[in-house]
Amino acid sequence: RYMKRQMLCRADIGRLDAPFVAIYESLIPPEEEKAKQKQLLSLLEKIVGKEWPDARLYIYGSCANSFGFSKSDIDICLRIDDADVNKSELLLKLADMLQSENLQNVQALTRARVPIVKLMDPATDISCDICINNVLAVFNTKLLRDYAQIDVRLRQLAFIVKHWAKSRGVNETYQGTLSSYAYVLMCIHFLQQRRPPILPCLQEMKTTHYVTIDNVVCAYFDQVENLVGFGSNNRESIAQLVWGFFNYWAYHHDYANDVISVRTGSILSKRSKDWTRRIGNDRHLVCIEDPFEVTHDLGRVVDKRSIKVLREEFERAAEIMQYDFNPCVKLFEPYIP
Ligand code: CTP
Ligand code: MG
Repeated sequence: RYMKRQMLCRADIGRLDAPFVAIYESLIPPEEEKAKQKQLLSLLEKIVGKEWPDARLYIYGSCANSFGFSKSDIDICLRIDDADVNKSELLLKLADMLQSENLQNVQALTRARVPIVKLMDPATDISCDICINNVLAVFNTKLLRDYAQIDVRLRQLAFIVKHWAKSRGVNETYQGTLSSYAYVLMCIHFLQQRRPPILPCLQEMKTTHYVTIDNVVCAYFDQVENLVGFGSNNRESIAQLVWGFFNYWAYHHDYANDVISVRTGSILSKRSKDWTRRIGNDRHLVCIEDPFEVTHDLGRVVDKRSIKVLREEFERAAEIMQYDFNPCVKLFEPYIP
């Protein structure tokens, strides 16, 4: 059984809050970026509306979930209620239309896991990916955004964790490490587990928001303006939480048996989800349950090699948070292979 190490938080941890907050603030996108995104969205709405008047466009992912950094690309979902849509044909047609409207670098990737059209808009200098009918992503984006409104420490922690993951090269699903979406879920789960809790479990509360998409139920309490101050009995500061997060994933998470679940606000067993063995390419070496698609493990991209990389990075981060005089520099040092 994996040996658990007990560490006490360092005595001077409070000294580290200001530098972490400064990093967080430096990554927040300025207001004018939002305006440019809206401008691009209305341009695309105009173009799409000519061909498909009933279609709708939704921004999802980091530009809409409040966990996006400055200069992120935008993710857009084209919702089109046509029973017999052939996605590839539709994407190729969309690509043609965009090209003739002078958008740049237009490319249809019809064979990707999530097929998309990529483009760059020279007027706003924004790049974007358009997918079709990936409506679940629109609703999990809303769930993340709703959680972010409850306590600012979620957004702070997730920004630091994402910045760390990008700097250290462990935010690359095609290399077997985790998506930004997975890291944000890990942060939400961590804050649900603090005592006293910093975040509630919205899916265990009264349902005020309800939709079903492809037989998946998305139901939760979304009147989050009534939950501001929920975590105020917990006074932990951002530096303590960053320390605790890495300490948890380095030394306290039970990789052999546990599944983290934002949906239930608790830890489930791999056995209860039947995630105990490799099926096809899904190995379940680290298990993060999707809040809505509960058969979906966001850790399934992780393989035998990358689990080692990930765990070594968590341990490195935990050691730095524990012992380094100036962790805010060392933590984000780029990984050079
Ligand atoms: N998504 C999903 N299931 C996944 C991965 C992603 O549903 N396995 C959806 C989520 O709605 C997520 C969006 O796709 O918000 C974009 O995913 P990702 O690129 O991981 O996150 P971003 O928030 O866009 O992060 P980044 O800033 O790194 O672009
Ligand atoms: Mg993205």
